[in-house]
Amino acid sequence: MTQAHASGKVILFGEHAVVYGQPAIAVPVSQVGVTVTIEPIPGGSRVISNLIGRNALLSSIPPSDPFMALIAVFFQATGTDPRHGVQFEIDSTIPVASGLGSGAAVSIALLRALNAHYSTNLGPVAINELAYEIEKIHHGSPSGIDNSVIAFDKPVFFVKGHPIETLNPVLPLDLLIGDTGIYAPTSQSVGDVKLLFHNHPELYQPIIDQVGEIAREARACIENGLPESLGKLMIENHQLLRRLTVSCGELDRLVEAAIQNGAIGAKLSGGGRGGNMIALVTPENAGAVRQALLAAGAKAVYGTTVMPL
Ligand code: PMV
Repeated sequence: MTQAHASGKVILFGEHAVVYGQPAIAVPVSQVGVTVTIEPIPGGSRVISNLIGRNALLSSIPPSDPFMALIAVFFQATGTDPRHGVQFEIDSTIPVASGLGSGAAVSIALLRALNAHYSTNLGPVAINELAYEIEKIHHGSPSGIDNSVIAFDKPVFFVKGHPIETLNPVLPLDLLIGDTGIYAPTSQSVGDVKLLFHNHPELYQPIIDQVGEIAREARACIENGLPESLGKLMIENHQLLRRLTVSCGELDRLVEAAIQNGAIGAKLSGGGRGGNMIALVTPENAGAVRQALLAAGAKAVYGTTVMPL
């Protein structure tokens, strides 16, 4: 039996603008994740997944399915064919389409498990590249930030098409993640922003540029231990995301509730229109902010701390 794991993630700054070449910051969230177990079985391979309630022979799944695409990508990269003789069990605690990196975490946990099971010697860079191929099937033209932060399992300063830079916070960052419970596929909001951008570049290019500038300033705040300034940047970033039309009433209510109850900063996180928001808190006010988020309609609240490396 072989087992591998991948954490979830949240984006702290720069979502959407990252698709247009601006930097973004994301951190792994170890409180949620995906575990993949591979066991030898006789005959054709089979997959069991709690995520989509699936228990099926691989031979019955169409090749266009992201799971089968991953098997194909692994086969192409390594010459190893996993379509016979193994059972995959996928066990996830990451809510789907909520901005916590469910799709990328499944791909990376699967690739890590395949790599270990077949001793194929893929390093994190290769695993990241293969996972990106699957992200393209899930999301159309993703920036690659989700697979990168999960593959490297460290806070990252990410610019599309550039080598990954890891970030080292000098102080722990206490975050609460508030889930609206609203299913919000990223491809939809990314497509809508693309349309706005295409039709009115004169209005939307300056917003994208400002989001990028905020991500650069946020990096300096994280590396110099300036949580108050970081919090202000989160609030500014949220306002710019609203102007990109990717917030919604529920996200705005959670962000407002967090700030009214003492959070240092708060913003939506990920594709938006639902999914999750994040609040930067202190160990002292985390309890009050958590209660306020639940009272304002959050379906779940996760706490995570980004530690200095
Ligand atoms: O919804 P998530 O957490 O998968 O994040 C998407 C981030 C976007 O910038 C909106 C899209 C992308 O490909 O980077």
